[in-house]
Amino acid sequence: MPRVHQAIPASRPTGAGALPWSETIMSGTQREWHDTVAARISGYLARRRELEADDRYHLLTPIDGPTNHRVRSRGRDLVMLGSYSYLGLIGHPRIDAAAAAAVAEWGTGAGGVRLLTGHTTLHERLEARLARFAGREDAVLYSSGYVTNVAVLSALAGPGDLVLMDKLDHASIVDGALLCGARWRTWRHGDLGHLERLLREARGKYGAVLVVADSVFSMDGDLLDLPCSAALCREHGARLVVDEAHSIGAVGHAGHGIEEHFGMEGAIDVKIGTLSKAIPSVGGYVAGDAGLVGYLRHYSRPFIFSAALPPPQAAAALEALDVIEAEPWRVRRAHENAERLRRGLQAQGWDTGGSTTCVIPVLVGDDAKAFDLARELFARGLFVCPIGHPAVPKGQARLRLTVMATHTAEELDFALEAIGEAGAALGLLRREAAGA
Ligand SMILES: Cc1ncc(COP(=O)(O)O)c(C=O)c1O
Repeated sequence: MPRVHQAIPASRPTGAGALPWSETIMSGTQREWHDTVAARISGYLARRRELEADDRYHLLTPIDGPTNHRVRSRGRDLVMLGSYSYLGLIGHPRIDAAAAAAVAEWGTGAGGVRLLTGHTTLHERLEARLARFAGREDAVLYSSGYVTNVAVLSALAGPGDLVLMDKLDHASIVDGALLCGARWRTWRHGDLGHLERLLREARGKYGAVLVVADSVFSMDGDLLDLPCSAALCREHGARLVVDEAHSIGAVGHAGHGIEEHFGMEGAIDVKIGTLSKAIPSVGGYVAGDAGLVGYLRHYSRPFIFSAALPPPQAAAALEALDVIEAEPWRVRRAHENAERLRRGLQAQGWDTGGSTTCVIPVLVGDDAKAFDLARELFARGLFVCPIGHPAVPKGQARLRLTVMATHTAEELDFALEAIGEAGAALGLLRREAAGA
């Protein structure tokens, strides 16, 4: 028998406090660390067989065609309640046309890294447009949101510095913190009193102090307390780095993100975002003052050593920013739809945690319940994502529902009926509440 360690292998840096390891092999299973590659693979195969035997394997479900509020999967027409495409922009005719025109004009790849041969005027236009959208002097592109977080942390922090993270920060922030070699610590999710204590303890002990958080926490749908975190950073001389992956396009009355939501333009020092969620493309960016952005272009390794964003994806993102501003109904409708679904779920008796955004968790407890609920909902015509340990803490498995601007009221009511019925059938809800 191979030796099996706890979730985090001993050879990894230990820092302080348990990290929110999101390196799920199959959500719902504690990651086991075996001594040999063969043992690791057989551990995975055994767990996969077990889940499949119980009809609880819900990963890699193939979708046929574009992902919007409805999708086709395994020959069925389903209401999609798990996509990050909050504004329903995948397949938008203007955005598709812009991408197609870019293929005709630029081809499909940039052919190199930005600093050398991969830098085009299209990239320059997109960076200027992102800067304007984010309300900053300049912006720099990377090939994904994940890479952006790793790039920023490893360029801005190193040995002798401190990175402070919310316990529920995204895995890419955690990975950036580990890679950069700085000391790191986590504060309890949403507990800014704890952050304040960590900042006080850090005074005078480190070079740079970075406070890094998601704007919308991706598994819970709650918002960072920007007023309080920005004030703490000012008071303690720390830099505030915010990952707007789930807020760009989706939060704020016009979709400009968390600063717009709180009316606090300029509060964030380093604004990170992705082009893969409300914006229907791929890539990531950092927006900030010209000095910061210029520095990142010359000192962040993923910018220097990885190929430029392909022109069609850059063109799609550029057009999408115009569409978001030209079609403000999308942001409004996304917010209304989220409110409608959240209220309906709460009326049925589900716990939706602290969600106030388009991400709505439906907390069910243990992993098996979340997998069973997802299976029942697929059978009833819904595509949903069950999330288990270690992506979320043990005992807090959930469906992570996401709402889109393009969902109709009928689709949301259909979803509520299905969720109520399935919850009652599995004994997760009282029958009379399910019909509320
Ligand atoms: C908060 C957060 N940051 C970064 C990322 C990574 O973004 P991308 O998928 O564009 O690499 C995600 C992805 O889900 C995320 O939720």
